[in-house]
Amino acid sequence: MQHDLRNFVIIDNPLIKRDVTLLRDKHTQPEQFRAVVKRISSVLAVEIAKDFELEEIEVDTPLETTAGFELKQQVVLVPVLRAGLGMVAGFLELMPYARVGHIGLQRDEETLLPIEYYYKTPRNIENAEVILLDPMLATGGSGSEAIKFLKKRGAKNIVFACLVAAPEGVQKILAEHPDVRIYGAALDRELNSKGYILPGLGDAGDRTFGTL
Ligand code: PRP
Ligand code: URA
Repeated sequence: MQHDLRNFVIIDNPLIKRDVTLLRDKHTQPEQFRAVVKRISSVLAVEIAKDFELEEIEVDTPLETTAGFELKQQVVLVPVLRAGLGMVAGFLELMPYARVGHIGLQRDEETLLPIEYYYKTPRNIENAEVILLDPMLATGGSGSEAIKFLKKRGAKNIVFACLVAAPEGVQKILAEHPDVRIYGAALDRELNSKGYILPGLGDAGDRTFGTL
């Protein structure tokens, strides 16, 4: 099936390529891993915000009144637990007024299917810019479930921000959610038989929180 590849954006930037390399390196410890995830997340936030709509307002400078802008829609960040938590700080740096929901999903190691264990999102997200945060888009099972939940809660403008994506997961999200744009820092080669992304960076939750 043909998908709309405009809905899949990989940020092409030397700073990101260098930082993704640090994430991949198995010697990178949680302290640095978290700092790099935060930095890349801020760049993703800038890229995603390029599509936000503005409302024109007036602002008084010390000298005169002039035209200014404010965001038309509220912003809601929704990290997928656990690893998505590492992306929140970088987004909040650029969007400090954002509300934050949480979705708890854990992949079953045998079936690779996501098991839900927690959902809490703000009310009135129909018109908000909802940004789903999960560093790993592997089979796409977790991402797709999270998006279904957000749509059930009424969200209409959803983007998916990840760090590393596998082709399999990208295809699944584009097929099941043609209205959702995916932003990533790297597109990797494939999944292994255990559903890990190759070359990847390993288990993002474990590397973020030092639970290896
Ligand atoms: C990881 C990752 C995604 C999911 C991606 O979480 O953070 O949520 O796997 O895989 P998928 O695209 O095949 O669904 P995991 O289930 O390992 O939970 P954790 O963050 O709590 O370790
Ligand atoms: N989840 C991870 O944390 N890493 C992978 O490579 C795949 C799923």
